Amino acid sequence: MEFRPLHGTFGAEVVGVPPDLQVNDAEFRRIEEAWFKYSILLFRGLTMTPDQHVAFTRRFGPLHIMKEHLNATLPGWPEVFVVSNAIKDGKPIGLKRAGEGFHTDGEDKQIPNAGSFLYAIEVPPERGDTLFVDMYSVYAALPADVKRQLAGKRARFSRIDLHNVHYPLLPPLTEQQKLERPDVYHPLLRRHPRSGRTSLYLGRWACDIEGMPQAEGRALIQYLVAFAQQPRFIFRQAWRVGDAVLWDNRCTQHCATGFDDERHVRIMYRTTLEGDVPLMATPEPIAA
Ligand code: SIN
Repeated sequence: MEFRPLHGTFGAEVVGVPPDLQVNDAEFRRIEEAWFKYSILLFRGLTMTPDQHVAFTRRFGPLHIMKEHLNATLPGWPEVFVVSNAIKDGKPIGLKRAGEGFHTDGEDKQIPNAGSFLYAIEVPPERGDTLFVDMYSVYAALPADVKRQLAGKRARFSRIDLHNVHYPLLPPLTEQQKLERPDVYHPLLRRHPRSGRTSLYLGRWACDIEGMPQAEGRALIQYLVAFAQQPRFIFRQAWRVGDAVLWDNRCTQHCATGFDDERHVRIMYRTTLEGDVPLMATPEPIAA
């Protein structure tokens, strides 16, 4: 087994594993260690069945079921969330245009998802890529005064405030939906429970910063969002059928990009890991 770096700071392609990912415990441990080291792992040429996809992901921890999108899961496998524009027997087989906009899975919940494993079943002939951001490098590159400003701070993640911004074509949230998706607060500087490293923890539902005047917090979030989206921090995954990427939501962001979904079909199967309460990082003293 070999890990070939994909980008200057993060990501590796895993070479030399069986296409159904049935690996022994020693091999699995090497993959898991590599995941904590590289944050995203790319596997190519896979031929996993849904059972194998679920079984491999489950070795990393308990799986999350997308209860709010049960009609977009694979029939018989509620753990497999389908991201797709395909229609079968007059019905969508999955969620269309899911994952557009930089985010981390479950960032708007008290306990966000630790990781996700996305497998390409059918891809368009062009575009439909996924962008990944190395949030450890983003944190490391922030100016010292910004790091100081963020230390000990939490961002407010709010579906209620940003639903209309991100989903202008959907109906507004009902009062019941608002009750079900209350605002949550997460540390902006997050310590990874396994690597111990600090990343900037941010996503598209972050709107302002606890304890800071709202306009100032918003402006800082907007600055951080733009800072994190610089091309130097991004790896672009151009999918081929049989590719799968396992990403760590605690230290990366990702974003699906568009394609001509009137002409082409894209079918992706995603398993999702349950997570842990985000840990506040205590950054090393930063020189004035
Ligand atoms: C996701 O955000 O889980 C989906 C990403 C993609 O479809 O590229």
